[in-house]
Amino acid sequence: MVPMSIRVPRAGRWRGPFFLLCLAVVAGCSRNPAIDPRPTAPASQASAEIGALAGLGRALFFDTSLSDPPGQSCASCHDPRWAFATPRNRMQAGIAPGADPSRFGMRNPPTLMYASFIPARHVDPVRGTLVGGLMHDQRADSLEDHALRPFFNPAEMANASPAALLARLRQASYAAQFDRVFGRGALSDPGRAMQHLAAAVAAYQRTAEFSPFSSKFDAVMEGRATFDASEARGYEAFRDRNRGNCVECHSLGAEQGRRALFTDFSSHNLGLPPNRSSPFYRMPASINPDGARFIDLGVARDPQRAGMEGRFRVPTLRNVAVTSPYMHNGVFASLGEAVRFYTTGCVAGNPDGWAEPEVAAGRECRKVGRLKLTSRDTADLVNFMYTLTDGWYDPATGLPGPMQVAPMPPIVGGGGRAVVQQH
Ligand code: HEC
Ligand code: HEC
Repeated sequence: MVPMSIRVPRAGRWRGPFFLLCLAVVAGCSRNPAIDPRPTAPASQASAEIGALAGLGRALFFDTSLSDPPGQSCASCHDPRWAFATPRNRMQAGIAPGADPSRFGMRNPPTLMYASFIPARHVDPVRGTLVGGLMHDQRADSLEDHALRPFFNPAEMANASPAALLARLRQASYAAQFDRVFGRGALSDPGRAMQHLAAAVAAYQRTAEFSPFSSKFDAVMEGRATFDASEARGYEAFRDRNRGNCVECHSLGAEQGRRALFTDFSSHNLGLPPNRSSPFYRMPASINPDGARFIDLGVARDPQRAGMEGRFRVPTLRNVAVTSPYMHNGVFASLGEAVRFYTTGCVAGNPDGWAEPEVAAGRECRKVGRLKLTSRDTADLVNFMYTLTDGWYDPATGLPGPMQVAPMPPIVGGGGRAVVQQH
């Protein structure tokens, strides 16, 4: 186990940007003991911004009565106190249990923060490579496309059918909100009800709660704070083509004139070792037909993507300090370990004794695996990544500084989709 202190950024205190949480009128999530709203900002900053569709989405997101058996919500695995990822101590070897606690899926739950910026899967016209798509393997096109899947995944919320989920939904305290947002009879038919459900959950994930841009990094970029010496060196190494060159994949996006998301949404095979401690290997055939022989092919699980074995989408690094363990399979416990792997994973003779890659073919050793990083560089890079945690407070004054919370996107009434923030 990694001590809790590693999760807490060095500079600034982790109070979270999530003060908006539970202040919504419709959420009703105060009944959920898993939620700790930690109000650190005046309520006036919050509830006025919550639109009806996104508010309904939030109520759904935190509702633990929508799983079979009841007890699990989206927030069980995407906990706002941990940047909408799963707290490490709720997982086994980086894998979260389902509503049935003896079931485990195959991958490490990612942060949902900034996920609304992930473009739909497409082939980049210039590079000719696959870009975008949600999930570690890029398989979902949009938040709407994905939103229903966890409700029916047997290793997650495990509802048997849309009709079964709809029966639970009708019992919810906020059920009447569906008619208000989507028009009368919104929950009368399972097909339409599921579409409404997906639209609401997706709209919630597009709110500023998930994309506050309130890290120390943002404050530095806006001239409200300065990096300390180690963070500044880490930022240099991160961008230096001859040292970290992290920006090759975890791109800053400045060239597109937008705030950095630390990913170019492409996918790569880093040659990661499998996570042999994952409980997924021990799952019954109904969940894992390959048993102990399971190999995660990543993007190439889709037969149309043959040749992309072992590739996974580049994740954002925002809030990475609070989302350990790392990588699609949770194989690395710490950021230092990840950077070390980038440094020695491909070095001849394997001086650090890394396990064999899960998918050796197509491993991109020319880009990562033998970076020229000293141990000071490693520490500096980790310290730099700690500045990417949202909810940063100036340690000198204890004040947040003028925090930039983007306004909520306008809501289209009467069954429409939320207008997407202009990314
Ligand atoms: C049991 C844990 C669990 C629950 C419950 C759960 N998720 Fe997830 N979520 C995951 C895992 C694991 C992944 C990554 C799966 C993969 O890549 O194959 C994921 C991925 C995602 C992604 C993609 C993020 C990205 O960066 O591509 C979204 C969006 C998401 N979940 C939303 C939800 C919503 C909405 C709910 C509730 C309806 C939910 N999840 C419930 C574990 C969970
Ligand atoms: C060739 C592209 C590439 C380069 C260069 C690269 N990364 Fe990554 N990075 C990835 C991919 C792809 C993943 C996800 C791999 C997976 O989950 O299987 C990843 C994952 C990570 C993670 C884990 C994030 C999480 O939430 O699990 C960290 C931390 C990270 N990279 C940091 C760095 C740093 C620091 C550098 C520079 C020293 C760097 N990366 C360079 C492609 C790259």
